[in-house]
Amino acid sequence: MNHSFAGKVALVTGAGSGIGLATAKAFGDAGASVVLADRREDAVRAAAEGLSASGGKALAVRCDVTDDTQVASMIDRTVSAFGRLDAAFNNAGVMQRRVDTAEISGEEWDRVMAINLRGVWSCMKYELPQMLRNGGGAIVNCSSIGGVIGVPGLAAYHAAKHGVIGLTKTAALEYATRKIRINAVCPGTINTPMAESLTGGDPKILAEFLKDEPIGRIAEPEEVAAGVLWLCSPGASYVVGHALFVDGGYTAH
Ligand SMILES: NC(=O)c1ccc[n+]([C@@H]2O[C@H](COP(=O)([O-])OP(=O)(O)OC[C@H]3O[C@@H](n4cnc5c(N)ncnc54)[C@H](O)[C@@H]3O)[C@@H](O)[C@H]2O)c1
Repeated sequence: MNHSFAGKVALVTGAGSGIGLATAKAFGDAGASVVLADRREDAVRAAAEGLSASGGKALAVRCDVTDDTQVASMIDRTVSAFGRLDAAFNNAGVMQRRVDTAEISGEEWDRVMAINLRGVWSCMKYELPQMLRNGGGAIVNCSSIGGVIGVPGLAAYHAAKHGVIGLTKTAALEYATRKIRINAVCPGTINTPMAESLTGGDPKILAEFLKDEPIGRIAEPEEVAAGVLWLCSPGASYVVGHALFVDGGYTAH
């Protein structure tokens, strides 16, 4: 059964594209007021206009998750617009340039960590006090299958995604009795611009990626969104500190 988020307020970072955009739309379709945050303001503005045009309540916020001041302001604007925060999907992320560990520059390492790991922490730092003021909420952090496996050439990305799971579990334990459930979602290969950047849009490279996929196909971002909405719904009321793999069976190998 699909759960209604009517009367609830949901925030999605990285909502300008891919998994974040699909999740923001899914929250909107389920009746939530949605805050779409991204460092690309044009992208979230267009998406928010689309949601509003179909009768929903949506707010676009320009926010770079590496900047604590912008993150704090994103939460302030959420509360000013909609009065509370019930669900947050900390999804903004980037892929790294594929090179061996010793070839990663310090700047590239710091860039990937700042967005993919520190950015998730920064969002939680400002979401959690607001959810405590609300009397509860649910947070989903975006990890990856890269949160539990290694892939040659992607050490910074995989280190950050492993970190997101550790951060999620620890925060989940801290807030479990305070009515805030914190979980992670771990996508496999999802049809978004990020996945396209890895394959260069080349069907042969995509086929190589998919040969180890038990389900035999790439996923659509809406399939990840469905997992995020479930984790934020009362249906997942006893699910705490969990890393939900939406990966077509990849990590079952
Ligand atoms: N696509 C996949 O196969 C896949 C697999 C596993 C995990 N993921 C994770 O899913 C999340 C979403 O990825 P996607 O595939 O939808 O990618 P995407 O590139 O389509 O979207 C990412 C969005 O994040 C935004 N963003 C990047 N840096 C930001 C920052 N500093 N502040 C705010 N916004 C920022 C981008 O502008 C973009 O709109 C990422 O965390 C990614 O690591 C993706």
